[in-house]
Amino acid sequence: MGSLIEPGAALRGAQGVSLSWLLEGGFKMSRFRFYTAGESHGYALISLIEGVPAGLGLKKADIDRDLARRQTGYGRGGRMKIETDRAEILSGVRHGLTIGSPIALMIRNKDWDNWRDVMSPDAPGPQDTTGPGATAKPVTVPRPGHADLAGALKYGHDDIRNVLERASARETAARVAAGAVARRLLGEFGIRVISHVIRIGTVTAKDVPERPEEIASAAEGSPVRSADPKASQHMVDAIERARENGDTLGGIFEVIATGVPAGLGTYAQWDERLDGRLAQAVMSIPAVKGVGIGLGFESACYPGSQVHDEIYFKDGFLRKTNHAGGIEGGISNGEPIVVRAAMKPIPTLCNPLNSVDILTGEPSPAHSERADACAVPACAVVAEAMVLIVLCQAFLDKFGGDSVQETKRNLEGYLETTGLRVTAGPGKPAGLHRQAGPRDAVNMHETRDRRHLEADPA
Ligand SMILES: Cc1cc2nc3c(=O)[nH]c(=O)nc-3n(C[C@H](O)[C@H](O)[C@H](O)COP(=O)(O)O)c2cc1C
Repeated sequence: MGSLIEPGAALRGAQGVSLSWLLEGGFKMSRFRFYTAGESHGYALISLIEGVPAGLGLKKADIDRDLARRQTGYGRGGRMKIETDRAEILSGVRHGLTIGSPIALMIRNKDWDNWRDVMSPDAPGPQDTTGPGATAKPVTVPRPGHADLAGALKYGHDDIRNVLERASARETAARVAAGAVARRLLGEFGIRVISHVIRIGTVTAKDVPERPEEIASAAEGSPVRSADPKASQHMVDAIERARENGDTLGGIFEVIATGVPAGLGTYAQWDERLDGRLAQAVMSIPAVKGVGIGLGFESACYPGSQVHDEIYFKDGFLRKTNHAGGIEGGISNGEPIVVRAAMKPIPTLCNPLNSVDILTGEPSPAHSERADACAVPACAVVAEAMVLIVLCQAFLDKFGGDSVQETKRNLEGYLETTGLRVTAGPGKPAGLHRQAGPRDAVNMHETRDRRHLEADPA
C-alpha cells in the first residue's frame, strides 16, 4: 500500500507551488537576511544578521560610527541625550573577521535602569519602584499619527505602552547596526551609500554640489544633513520655530549609492525588482510616507524625450543624465542609484492633538512624552541602512560566495562579460569589450534642476 502522504503532493501546492516558497510568504528569501528585536525602553536592541560571507573585516567601530550618525541632527529630543548607542558583537566574528555564521549584535538601552520595573518581563512585585522618566501608569490616550490606536485595537491592549515600545523608531538603531555590516561588505566591492536632506518643512536645499562625495562631506558637516549651507541654517531656524510652537516638522531626503554594477535585481518576478525592494525597505521606516527612484513622481510631468536617459558607448555604456535613478526594468543599470523619500512630521506633540481615552471613551489630549521635533536627518541615516541592506541582498543574490574572496572572483568574472555584445564566432569571443566599472558620478544636475522647478512652494 502506498504512503498516505505522497511526497510530491506534500511538497507542492495545488498549482505546483513549492511548500518552501509558500512558507516564505510567497517572497523569494534572500541569503542575506536580518531581523531586529527589542523595545524602546527594554534591556537592549538586537540585530541578527545571516548570510554574510566569511573573511570580511568587521570591527565594533564600523557599527558604532553609523549608530552615532543616526543620533545626530538638529531637532532630536531628550532621549538622544541619554542614549549613546554602542554595539556589542555577540557572535559571527572572530579576531576581527566574519566566519560565515550568523552575526548577533546588541545595543544596550542606557535608560533601562530607569525602566527596569515598568518594562520588566516578570510580574510586578510590591517593592517595585519606577526610575526618573519612567511611568508605570498605563497609556490610554492614543496619539494621532502614531501606531497607538491601530496597535491597541489589533493586539487587544489596554495599555498603549505595549504598542509604542516596539513601534517607536528606537528600533531603527538595530537596522542601522545591520546596515553598517552591509556597508562593510559592499565597501569591499567599491559600493558607497550616502544621504542628504533636501527639504525640511518648506525650506528646500538649492545649492547642492554635483559629486556624491562632495554632497556627503557637506551633509556630514551640517546640523541637518543638508549639503546646502545656506538652506541648512534656514532648516535649523524652521525646526526651532516649530519647537517653540510645540510642533514638529517632516521633510524629504535622498540616498545615493555609487559603484553599483549593472545587473542587480530583475524584471523576471515582481518581488525581485530592485526598485520595488528598495521602495518597500525605505517605506518600512517609521514615518516615511513616500519613496521615489530617480525623478520619481516628477517623471510624470515631462515628455518621454526629456525623461529617459540617452545611451552612448565610450569604454562602457554611459548616460548623460540619470533621471531613472540607476534602475531600469527593476535592474541596476550601472549609474548611481538615487532614492528619495518623504518623512511625515513626528506625531508626538508638546501641544497634543485631540484624541479619546480608549478605556473610557472620554475626549482627551493625546499622550505626550519625550520626543523629537524633527528627525529627518536621522531618518536619512536609517534609509542609508535600508538601501545598504537591499543592495547587499541583491548583490549576494547575484554574485553569491561563501567567502569574500569567492564573491570577488564571481564579480570579476561577471564584469568581464558586460561590455559590447560582440557576436561570438571564430576568433571573436562574446563580450570582448569589457564594460568600464560601475559609475561613481553621473550628471545628476539636470535631475536636481527639475526638482527645483517643482519643489519649493514658498
Ligand atoms: C529616526 C526617527 C526618530 C523618530 N522619533 C520620533 C519621536 O521622538 N517621537 C515620535 O512620536 N515619533 C518619532 N518618529 C516617528 C514615529 O516612529 C512614526 O511616526 C510612527 O512610527 C508612525 O509612523 P507610521 O504611520 O509610518 O508607522 C521617529 C521616526 C524616525 C525614523
